[in-house]
Amino acid sequence: MSIQPIDLPPELVKTLKAIHRVAVMTGAGISAESGVPTFREAQTGLWSQYDPQDLATPEAFDQNPGLVWEWYAWRRGLISQSQPNPGHLALVQMENLFSQFDLITQNVDGLHRRAGSQKIIELHGEIFRTKCSRENKIVTSWPETSDIPPRCPDCNAFLRPDVVWFGESLPQRAFSAALEAAKTCQIYFSIGTSSVIEPAASLPIIALQNGAQVIEINPHHTHLTPQSTYSLRYPAGEVLPALIKELT
Ligand code: OAD
Repeated sequence: MSIQPIDLPPELVKTLKAIHRVAVMTGAGISAESGVPTFREAQTGLWSQYDPQDLATPEAFDQNPGLVWEWYAWRRGLISQSQPNPGHLALVQMENLFSQFDLITQNVDGLHRRAGSQKIIELHGEIFRTKCSRENKIVTSWPETSDIPPRCPDCNAFLRPDVVWFGESLPQRAFSAALEAAKTCQIYFSIGTSSVIEPAASLPIIALQNGAQVIEINPHHTHLTPQSTYSLRYPAGEVLPALIKELT
């Protein structure tokens, strides 16, 4: 990993030292340095290798529950070999620097929790949690049978990962908390997301409308870049530790 010199805008550091309310939104990019594939990057993104319509929709699960279950089992295996990276760890430190700090994530990999973040708003669920596909309740254990997917011990319906699929609504409490964070923060970080999936993509706009500054951290230009107050064109695992160093 080439650690390039990070050039932080002095005005941004000054503002961060003066404010008290921060919201952070993370996407797959913050886990890229942990070896977890993102979704839309050419060649390496999951959606460039697989069609989400075949794997990440309720219809796909209805048509081929076994295929969908196995694909998520493969992703769980991949993620469980990964470790939180310096970007995740820097956000754990950032949590303690502001009196109001909300970490909103689109990621389902659980790496923020493993890094030690306490207050996490999971907009798209978590891949290691399993729920009944009929009752929607979390299931932590089930009898080992040859069924793939396994079945709910209570109602015998198939089990599924507790993640949001395309066409499904977000967990209401999580989205309400994310909306409140976007409305009340003074600085909104958008880290490692292409900012294309709604309703997450609207949150930075809501933050701007409520007078916050938006700081994008992404090695590439995104839809959000033109509206960002600052766009830091670096990997999250390099720029976040540099930011924490300036603030502590
Ligand atoms: P994407 O794959 O769409 O975008 C990942 C972003 O991370 C890209 O803009 C990359 O440039 C950026 N990136 C790559 N490496 C990075 C690094 N080291 N540091 C910072 N940024 C980096 O993933 P998301 O925006 O998270 O939803 O996708 C949003 C949602 O679409 C996901 O939650 C998932 C997906 O379909 C569902 O599954 C419902």
